[in-house]
Amino acid sequence: MIKKFLDLGLQPLANNYLINQKKLSIKNNELYKLEVFFDLKTKLVSISKKIPKNKMFNNKYPYKSSMSMTMTKSFKKLHKDIIKDFDPKLFLEIGSNDGALIKNFKKNKAICVEPCNNLAKITSKLGYKTYPNYWDRNLAKKIKKKYGNVDVVYAANTITHIADLENVFKSIFNVLSQNGILIIEDPSLLECLKKTSYDQFYNEHIYVFSAIAVKNILDKFNFELFDIQNLQTHGGSLRYFIKNKKNKLYKIKKTVTKQINKELKFGMNKINVYKKFSNSVLKSKFKLLKILKKIKNKNKTIVGYGATAKSTTVLNYCKIDNNFIDYFVDTTPDKSNKFMPGKNIKIYKYNQKLLNNVDYIFLGAWNFKKEIINKEKKFKKRGGKFISHVPKPHVF
Ligand code: TYD
Repeated sequence: MIKKFLDLGLQPLANNYLINQKKLSIKNNELYKLEVFFDLKTKLVSISKKIPKNKMFNNKYPYKSSMSMTMTKSFKKLHKDIIKDFDPKLFLEIGSNDGALIKNFKKNKAICVEPCNNLAKITSKLGYKTYPNYWDRNLAKKIKKKYGNVDVVYAANTITHIADLENVFKSIFNVLSQNGILIIEDPSLLECLKKTSYDQFYNEHIYVFSAIAVKNILDKFNFELFDIQNLQTHGGSLRYFIKNKKNKLYKIKKTVTKQINKELKFGMNKINVYKKFSNSVLKSKFKLLKILKKIKNKNKTIVGYGATAKSTTVLNYCKIDNNFIDYFVDTTPDKSNKFMPGKNIKIYKYNQKLLNNVDYIFLGAWNFKKEIINKEKKFKKRGGKFISHVPKPHVF
């Protein structure tokens, strides 16, 4: 049985940056109800409305993993670790995006799967075998027939985007060699609850995983966890190391029970903690609006930094439009000169000069706080201030 615990109101597709200012409507399928549920049995947290995948992941997908130094560095280290610990003869990445990780691998030892054609073209041009397809059983069969079994399958911020988990795990099981491993990483639900980062919920994030739920899901597909790493990326993520239950090559590390016990201690196997979270989300909204109103009453300027998908949830849930935020800046070329979905705030290609007369920066990419503060020392030095809604709305 699933129970609703959070209602984030009407939301547009989070990554659907608009070319022109536009009032979106439910009638035209441009807005949908964003509600979040907890499954009492599997402990899985998921959003209610599933948007057809080709509406979200197509040849115009704007997000590029290589846009931040934090991610690029994290992927370099991961590549080294994978080679050291598993030395795969064949590596496959599901959701390879613009190749931020895969470009560290040798071209004859790595396969990309990326349904967003604009991104698939990038890795293809770099010389990597790239399948511009959605991951499913047929594709797994096709790859296995051509290349044989895969030793390491990796997917970062991808599995939570796919509604049919049975299809995902069964097809991975099928393509992996018996001693092969699967590594997935996704935002941590525990961190999301602790930080009241309700903006982890948007149409693409069909699930936000806890280790408890991942363990329960894997159980059904003859997979098991053998290691979990805590990462700083995306506001706190978990990297899950998964193997076939018959694979005795790797011992199950203490990190697995440690993470699960942490989550159990927090109460994540019971609905109450989610109800509490929902109250915190409401409080967060009022506090953020209070801060923004106070600033605007003093006629100060606020600019958004990082036109993230997460910001779409915040803007639309809190009803923040260009009466509060003048514009967003973002380094991603495909977001430039477009508008934040639902709230019509203009996005400009990042240029430090755009911050010259700005009093406050709203951190849309709060998950890159360190990197951004480092970059914007000049802004801070001349008295500029930051606003973040995570873990609680505050100015610093
Ligand atoms: P991210 O938080 O990874 O994504 P999501 O859209 O999944 O919520 O996105 C970070 C965004 O912030 C991305 O569009 C790039 C942008 N960005 C900047 O503009 N400048 C920066 O210095 C950094 C670190 C990110």
